[in-house]
Amino acid sequence: MEQKYSDLINKAVSASENSYSPYSGFRVGAALLAKNGTIYTGCNIENSSYSLTICAERTAFFKAISEDCTEFEAIAVVGSSDGDFSAPCIPCGACLQVMTEFCSPDFTIILSDGAHKFSEFLPNQFNKEKLLKG
Ligand code: THU
Repeated sequence: MEQKYSDLINKAVSASENSYSPYSGFRVGAALLAKNGTIYTGCNIENSSYSLTICAERTAFFKAISEDCTEFEAIAVVGSSDGDFSAPCIPCGACLQVMTEFCSPDFTIILSDGAHKFSEFLPNQFNKEKLLKG
């Protein structure tokens, strides 16, 4: 894997150490690379009211956007229940929809099996253009 991407994977693994996941025991970390070179990390944060859980990817995106950073190049995502991050952790549908708002179809999603294009995971998007066209 390209050096830039393996660095992002390492940052995602580090971010997973802060995962608050007492209910699932599944620790997820994300590292989001902005076009200006800044990296925003995130982890999953669960809640006793389960549906209020937020995924690692959305934590990273919301941190970035709340700091006025809205242009992104790539995100690395890892997840594991036992410390072995070798199986790819595919972003959930809710996270893919959040990505739709800020990322082009060629945005890169880096998983443990390599780099993917966003469009592989969500080829048909409900986005703001469709909303504006009615
Ligand atoms: N999770 C993420 O953080 N990202 C994903 O893309 C998939 C799922 C979290 C949510 C929950 O805390 C745990 O993994 C189990 O679903």
